[in-house]
Amino acid sequence: MCGIVGYIGDKSPVEVIMTGLHRLEYRGYDSSGVAVVGENGLDCVKSVGKLKIMDQKLEEHPLKGNLGIGHTRWATHGVPSEANSHPHFNGAKTIAVVHNGIIENYYELREQLQAAGVVFRSQTDTEVIAHLVDKYYEGDLFAAVKRALKDCEGAYAIGVICQDNPDVLVAARHGSPLIVGLGDNEGYIGSDVPAIMKYTRNVMYIENGHVCEITRAGVKIEDVDGNPVSMEVKTVEWDDAAAEKEGYPHFMLKEIHQQGAVLRNTLAGRIDEHSDSVRLTDMNIAPEELKACGKIFIVACGTAWHAGMVGKFLIEKFAKVPVELDLASEFRYRDPIIPPNSIMIPVSQSGETADTLEAIRIAKSRGAKVASIVNAVGSSVARESHGVVYQQAGPEIGVASTKAYTSQCMCFALFTIWLGQVRGTLDKDQVAMMIRELRAVPDKVDAILKNQDKVKELANRPEYRDAVGAFFLGRNYNFPSALEGALKLKEISYIHAEGYAAGEMKHGPIALVTNTFPVVCVAVKGETYEKMVSNIQEIKARAGLIISVATEGDESIQAHSNDVIYIPECYEPYSPILVAVPLQLLAYHISANLGRDVDQPRNLAKSVTVE
Ligand code: G6P
Repeated sequence: MCGIVGYIGDKSPVEVIMTGLHRLEYRGYDSSGVAVVGENGLDCVKSVGKLKIMDQKLEEHPLKGNLGIGHTRWATHGVPSEANSHPHFNGAKTIAVVHNGIIENYYELREQLQAAGVVFRSQTDTEVIAHLVDKYYEGDLFAAVKRALKDCEGAYAIGVICQDNPDVLVAARHGSPLIVGLGDNEGYIGSDVPAIMKYTRNVMYIENGHVCEITRAGVKIEDVDGNPVSMEVKTVEWDDAAAEKEGYPHFMLKEIHQQGAVLRNTLAGRIDEHSDSVRLTDMNIAPEELKACGKIFIVACGTAWHAGMVGKFLIEKFAKVPVELDLASEFRYRDPIIPPNSIMIPVSQSGETADTLEAIRIAKSRGAKVASIVNAVGSSVARESHGVVYQQAGPEIGVASTKAYTSQCMCFALFTIWLGQVRGTLDKDQVAMMIRELRAVPDKVDAILKNQDKVKELANRPEYRDAVGAFFLGRNYNFPSALEGALKLKEISYIHAEGYAAGEMKHGPIALVTNTFPVVCVAVKGETYEKMVSNIQEIKARAGLIISVATEGDESIQAHSNDVIYIPECYEPYSPILVAVPLQLLAYHISANLGRDVDQPRNLAKSVTVE
């Protein structure tokens, strides 16, 4: 986890760095720090806790100069404390380092350095980098960093500055994300694009093993052995305003409201108007490969895994290819059997989740074609895959995933149609109908968002807002909706919530149901509607408090429910996209009513870049 930013140029480094760190706070918020090289050498401010504390400290202790680095931390080695906050320094405090990742052999390196007389100030793995750079420093920071990294194993994105080289910012990447931004007579580094996009749109996505020397004149990139590397400068299309709250009290609420537009974006360019067919060219899978494919593996973590479950149901139902769905953290260790002609679809909003990346490497080494569903353009998952379908959802800042989830489901719907089309499991009329229904989804999402009064009212009612636990139930396509609804509620409100396949209730969970226990039942019209109604009646018979999510016009469900949230009538296979929206809103409003930190819930980080 952790986020890094760096700047060299005429702007105030503190302003650039703090703007960037605020954008990166989603990557961790245990502590932060900024170091600047100025007239009086290297100076630094650190603080434990969120960035607003850091903002105050910087007012009291301003840092001036033309070169600086900053960090927001999610602790991996060492408790959150000022001593463990980055930047870390060499003994003489002339070299400063910020780091995202884990130096796996740090213990060994630390012992070697200590044996040579080095005194450590922190418990972090990062500090070894500062001392190693110092050890190899002979007046050239770039050379010293390259040499130091030869000793380091593990994952890193680092930014390094030295008071004796005030015109150089050095950065390097191995495993953790890093971008370099270019401006006029200035340079930037960041963990991702939003960190620097207020200032520049011209970025380089740094590759593993590359070390960059950034000066006002430009960027020199080499590998650790000094071999030069050339790299393309890309122009980022994202709008800077996309990274701001735009008047919403929280990023999560803003992102929930963006979903109609986001889903239109996800569809954009993927449907051929003339032939009424889907094309996902960037997935880089030839029609022959789709036809020959005997098995699909979907791997993901968290919310993306729930989207993967929606994908599994769609693909198996309409394209008739067996799908194995795995949590990436489990796939890695279960020695999966990957037959020839298998396709893996990793799903990841950030594209940097460590377990998902490792699952990709395993699948590739066993011969699978890997085509991912990813939001962050140029991220590691995208680059390590053979092909990619970008979600086109824009930056997601709220830790709880919302628009990324619905756009991932949309990507799976597109992929399913494409696969069914190519394999001939869907005829022309079915494809046309499925495309038509898919196109109707964004407007229906907008309609749900326009009509939130009921959800808001429920979220403020004591029996729901103050509940100690809740169940979310669904069947078939909406079993993942139940899992996702429960995850949303628990992660941002801290109310214990569990999602279940409704048919499982009688196998144990129903024992918890009392007249103070809310049960959210997804009962939209479709194949399993009647079965769902029976399950609702069973809970009602135990006096459970039932909120049903039902299809507009379904009056009869009111008789079995305490409250009903309606969504527009829709094609059942796409209903998880619509159902997600009121469940996100319910979680959001309950959390906001409870005064929780909606965008940055405790103990969580947006992108889990450690295993
Ligand atoms: C974290 C986030 C979740 C996300 C999961 C997977 O837990 O809080 O919102 O679903 O990681 O992240 P990815 O970036 O791979 O989708």
